[in-house]
Amino acid sequence: MTRFVVLISGNGSNLQALIDACADGRIQGQLVGVISNKAEAFGLQRAQDAGIPTQVLANADFASREDYDAALITALESWQPDLLVMAGFMRILTPAFVQHFAGRMLNIHPSLLPKYQGIKTHQRAMAAGDDVHGATVHFVTEELDGGPVVLQAKVPIFSDDSVEDLAARVLTQEHQIYPLVVNWYCQRRLQMRDGRAWLDGRCLPTAGYA
Ligand code: GAR
Repeated sequence: MTRFVVLISGNGSNLQALIDACADGRIQGQLVGVISNKAEAFGLQRAQDAGIPTQVLANADFASREDYDAALITALESWQPDLLVMAGFMRILTPAFVQHFAGRMLNIHPSLLPKYQGIKTHQRAMAAGDDVHGATVHFVTEELDGGPVVLQAKVPIFSDDSVEDLAARVLTQEHQIYPLVVNWYCQRRLQMRDGRAWLDGRCLPTAGYA
């Protein structure tokens, strides 16, 4: 069975969605460990409650990004994962790290990429006057939030939304699309090849569906 590790920095609601999907068979894969760069991340509790091994690797303990990522590779490899699933892991990864796990890393980002790479995506979508927003699951490459798109979900932006309203609406969709994509990977239906994402042997559109 495909072995995957989830990387988190905070609340871990996407992690919970993945735990639940493994438990009820929507993901045909094994979640073998959770790693956080923050000791206080609530997601660690979620993992422990589900009986999943956890490790904390605090970036504050390392002199450089390169040192941290080298230690992260060692920690991750102790679980021999086939796939890394970034779920609110708020770190920029070094090229060496990305190359080590090339084609075996997924991320979820709270915008309709390529729009709003980086942070404060909900604020930026609202400030731009957009009436549609969403979330994207993509393969991780060296380009920040720039790897090939696998699946997106759209939500409306209402004129009386607060940032929190919009963030919650997007997060609900994240919890739907991430287990679906992780399952495709676990079932070997999804690959990254030639810098593109492929599902069931067909190349997915480079710019997503938004
Ligand atoms: C999610 O909205 C995820 O898309 C975002 O952080 C949140 C984590 O929530 N990730 C990024 O912004 C990565 N650039 P969670 O901890 O409840 O899953």
